[in-house]
Amino acid sequence: MGITFNEEKKVFLLKTKNTSYQFRVAEFGFLEHLYYGRRVEEAVDYIPVRLRHGFEANPYEMKQDRTLCLDVLEQEYPGFGVSDFKTSACSIIHADGSNCIDFRYVSHRIYNGKYTIEGMPSLRNKGDDWMTLEVVLQDVATKVEVTLFYGVLESCDVITRHAVIRNLEDTEITLHAAHSTCLSFPTDEMDQIDFYGSWGHERNAQRTPVRHGKTVVDSIRGISSHYYNPTIVLCDHETTETAGDCYGVALVYSGNFQITVEVNDFKQTRVVAGIHPDTFYWKLNPGETFATPEAVISFSAAGLTGLSHHYHDVVRHFLIPGQFENQRCPVLLNNWEATMIDFDEEQLMQIASAGKELGVEMFVMDDGWFGRRTNEFRGLGDWQCNLEKLPSGIAGFSKRIHGLGLKFGIWIEPEMISEDSRLYEEHPDWCIAIPGRKPTRQRYQLILDYSRDEVVEYIFDQIYNEFKDAEIDYIKWDMNRSMTDRFSQALPAERQGELCHRYVLGFYKLMEKLTTTFPQIRFEGCCGGGGRFDMGVLYYAPQIWCSDDTDAIERISIQHGTSFFYPPSVMGAHVSVCPNQQTGRSVSIDTRAALAYYGTFGYELDPNELNDEEKEAVKRQIQYYQEHALTSAFGKYYRLTGVGHEFVAFMSVADDQKSAVFSFVQRRTSANKGIIYIKLRGLNEAAVYTIPELGLELSGASLMYAGLPMPVIKADNTAKTFTLIQK
Ligand code: GLA
Repeated sequence: MGITFNEEKKVFLLKTKNTSYQFRVAEFGFLEHLYYGRRVEEAVDYIPVRLRHGFEANPYEMKQDRTLCLDVLEQEYPGFGVSDFKTSACSIIHADGSNCIDFRYVSHRIYNGKYTIEGMPSLRNKGDDWMTLEVVLQDVATKVEVTLFYGVLESCDVITRHAVIRNLEDTEITLHAAHSTCLSFPTDEMDQIDFYGSWGHERNAQRTPVRHGKTVVDSIRGISSHYYNPTIVLCDHETTETAGDCYGVALVYSGNFQITVEVNDFKQTRVVAGIHPDTFYWKLNPGETFATPEAVISFSAAGLTGLSHHYHDVVRHFLIPGQFENQRCPVLLNNWEATMIDFDEEQLMQIASAGKELGVEMFVMDDGWFGRRTNEFRGLGDWQCNLEKLPSGIAGFSKRIHGLGLKFGIWIEPEMISEDSRLYEEHPDWCIAIPGRKPTRQRYQLILDYSRDEVVEYIFDQIYNEFKDAEIDYIKWDMNRSMTDRFSQALPAERQGELCHRYVLGFYKLMEKLTTTFPQIRFEGCCGGGGRFDMGVLYYAPQIWCSDDTDAIERISIQHGTSFFYPPSVMGAHVSVCPNQQTGRSVSIDTRAALAYYGTFGYELDPNELNDEEKEAVKRQIQYYQEHALTSAFGKYYRLTGVGHEFVAFMSVADDQKSAVFSFVQRRTSANKGIIYIKLRGLNEAAVYTIPELGLELSGASLMYAGLPMPVIKADNTAKTFTLIQK
């Protein structure tokens, strides 16, 4: 049983295959967190110790007893203003202007299956693996309720959380913070790992000890952003890739988020994660509800790789659209780096034909095909084909590409508007801007106000009309700016704080509508590269472009950081030309492929400009990916080293352990040095594996425990890829 309630002790016991999460109804109905970690069978309600503390405040009901204080008692969903002075999960302004919220237990129910969140993505209820617990709490003095939802997925060691706040008062209230989850730990002996970055170098893993005070990773850019990912790991100081306790929190959300890690004076560590309160307030009329996004939490006692595998499993099997499960993306050729916006139909046909000759499976036409789009200043918002560039139209051009024996993909950026566009001329009020204030531009473009249904509907209709008769297999959905000048001309003053979240809901609505209207089309999320790489997007799009930085060496740390929560199969990764457009660095074409194999694989170049040797390499690489993608991109992924060393190694092992793909990148060569041995992981000890590139046959045990000597490579930044096939 994944969820039980111990009536006598009033303890909720949530169990997955290897983990337990426990909380109880404590004195006066406080919902008190007890434990999260390795599986224990019995209720651990002995854990909280009540002590009289020096300067702490006590709930009124305690009368003369001063041993219960909310600064120490760890609540599952802490309110605000009543003596829990740590980061709250929820804060509300009542009709009289007061802002206390003090939740107490009312009721609960347990059932098989999983809840859904209307209008928002969440892990999918597939099979009969899920159980749900709903706990209703109510404010002690008003009729404001919250229902806490816990989804338990036993097989993946994952628990999901989300909350619904309900106003049962007869006056309106204003939500000021409504987080998705709160996690508590009775210690500050922990590290946190978060993922910072910027355009072109997203998701660098950063590990620091937790510290007194608050540490925040967040975004107020309207998107989850390049700068921090909406995920965090908390772990023991000793935890490594292969051993030790670690916890993950990931938000299934694509907008402004905040994850706060706070250590208090009693050395308790609290993590609160959800929508960013700085850009949020929400009016709730009597009877109305507000649903938070979902948070996915997990624990592993087997180190960071174990934790990553929990997340990889749920993303692959319970998040991305089911029709793409275990289906690799066709090997694609994208014209962006080859032509930028400036192209015409015949030029694209030449690129596509040359790609076909090398074995490419799909051609993707990037930015530049629509409206007035002759430069970056113009055209966004007009999703009709520019017939001067493409006389055949989208339907005709897609058929020509299919005629070559290729699938066809196309780029769109549906959330954007250029001031130089027909759409802007007709609906200048449809963009996010403050009347009387010149809006900030980014990439010369503005954002459409997706909090308005008519805008979402209009864009849907345009795209539908343009694409319905075309043969489209893939859509790259871009979003190239941060949100500023937050204002909707359709919202009253007191609801402007709802804009950012309503925008995200509008984005999800359009994604939902397009992906259900065209279920055969594979969507790729993109946001100036990897600026919206999150579980919200992955619910609709089975892959996301990892970064605009396609330099293989830079990709090592980008893909390394991304792999903590996201499997390689969802990472958009391509081979591009050298010297690299972003860094100027040149590395061999096989080194570039070595990174792209652990992703969706494809090319960003003009094959006509390759020399014969490179063309042969491309043919070979495509065949390799076709044969081994289900291992390299869909297998279990192992980070064998960190990324700051003079060499880096990583590998993937097929789920049945019958094959593996392993890559070694020598960052810096040096003279007369010793042999580097890499210990492989995840293999079947007893099986014998052939490694054709080395002419070796070795057991899984030897490869994992004695290790594999690496060849001497007399070059910097050079990768070698090895294949392991079970005999
Ligand atoms: C973004 C994407 C690129 C490309 C351009 C087109 O930067 O990340 O891959 O599609 O937009 O404008």
